[in-house]
Amino acid sequence: MKNVLFVASEAVPFIKTGGLADVVGSLPKYFDKTKYDVRVIIPKYLCMADKYKESLTFKTSFYMDLAWRTQYVGILETEYDGVKIYFIDNEYYLGGDKPYGEMFTDVEKFAFFSKAALSCLPLLEFRPDIIHCHDWQTGLVPVYLKDRFYKDPFFYGIKTIMTIHNLKFQGIWDLNKTRDITGLSMYYFTPDKLEAYGDANLLKGGLVYADIITTVSNTYASEIKTKFYGERLDGLINARSNCLRGIINGIDYVDYNPETDNYIKKKYSIKNFRKQKIKNKLALQEELGLEVNSKKFMIGIVSRLTDQKGFDLIAYVMDELCSLDIQLVVLGTGDEKYENMFRHFDWKYFDKVSANIFYSEEMSHKIYASCDAFLMPSLFEPCGLSQLMSLRYGTVPIVRETGGLKDTVEAYNEYENTGTGFSFANYNAHEMLDTIRYAMHIYYNKKRDWNKIIDRGMAKDFSWKSSAKEYESLYDDMIG
Ligand code: ADP
Ligand code: GLC
Repeated sequence: MKNVLFVASEAVPFIKTGGLADVVGSLPKYFDKTKYDVRVIIPKYLCMADKYKESLTFKTSFYMDLAWRTQYVGILETEYDGVKIYFIDNEYYLGGDKPYGEMFTDVEKFAFFSKAALSCLPLLEFRPDIIHCHDWQTGLVPVYLKDRFYKDPFFYGIKTIMTIHNLKFQGIWDLNKTRDITGLSMYYFTPDKLEAYGDANLLKGGLVYADIITTVSNTYASEIKTKFYGERLDGLINARSNCLRGIINGIDYVDYNPETDNYIKKKYSIKNFRKQKIKNKLALQEELGLEVNSKKFMIGIVSRLTDQKGFDLIAYVMDELCSLDIQLVVLGTGDEKYENMFRHFDWKYFDKVSANIFYSEEMSHKIYASCDAFLMPSLFEPCGLSQLMSLRYGTVPIVRETGGLKDTVEAYNEYENTGTGFSFANYNAHEMLDTIRYAMHIYYNKKRDWNKIIDRGMAKDFSWKSSAKEYESLYDDMIG
């Protein structure tokens, strides 16, 4: 049996702010349980839903040094869908109303979490062969491991993986303060280790010290070697490119399944979507106060409203977009400027645009199931899960060719009748608009071809089946 521990800052269904939670919460279920014992450790945030907090059982507690402080560490556990999940408890660090806040508190919070995740292992009597870390919040795990923990025979020889879900977020903070918070010696704060451009950088620590680096698509793995996508760490990424691999994300095919989804009005499959999917659209139009018209080309967006997702392209042509023969349904929260933009256009084009500025799992499923197309013109996209959810629900993605979007959406070719969506290459608002117009043309004038695009998209397999196998073989390569 090979033991693997996922260390991350979020996991569905317990706590989620983005795709990271989907990955950490679903991937562990899909390993071969006869060969891999994959467990997960995440923080127990006070803002977690009560029903999840109440489902945890207390395992143990101890006090841990973090630099000059001594802190309480509680460990709780549960089993969810056959996966053992541990939670680290400390109300001082994890008491806010959301998982992340200001960087100066987050750096200390996740230094605490990273060290606690290692410190608790002997008490849990679980010795991982591999610790699989996700994003900057866990960047200190490989550093702490190779610092003090390695001197303890329990830890000696444990391998680490650092998976980059988003290189933009690195956990950057003042060098001296970070040294003070982490308790690491000055030895670590040099340009070949945690220092970058004068500050301390937690993700960089992980990228330097992890045995293997992965990211969530092949295209993003090569993009981050360039200056444009490298977020000022392209030099380091290039230096470690022998240890870098791209493994595409999957989605949970049980949670996201139009044949069994209880959130949606009418369940459907690849066989009957032509007749049934439209009933979801009518129900959503009714619910959101849009013109109830089965023929209208309905475009969906479910997203964090940030620059990463290409919203400045949308903002630039929003009036032109709204003057097309479309409906636009948006679900998202984020930057105020985008929230307000969508609210404004919802007011201006009340029967065409619906802005839902909140977070709702249920509404997201309804949008994936009801819309004709799904818009995701990202500036960069390490993988992207929303387009995979759209494909699964027969909603045709319109994307920019970057990162995982490029690897998962095949552009429609009218002459060869191939492709699962529509895409454009340059970060240009009118290129996006032309692509939307082209998709509209196929939808309104070549309905048979449109339906075949859906057929091909729904037939694709973006479950975890093949990617979990890739992680398994990576683990095998690392520990033999
Ligand atoms: P990212 O992780 O960069 O935000 P992904 O496409 O990988 O992007 O994952 C986003 C996840 O968050 C998807 O599961 C998507 O459905 C969900 N999501 C984003 N915004 C909302 C929202 N407002 N309500 C419900 N789900 C949302
Ligand atoms: C990040 C990325 C997104 C990816 C997700 C899960 O949030 O922005 O592209 O799908 O992580 O890996």
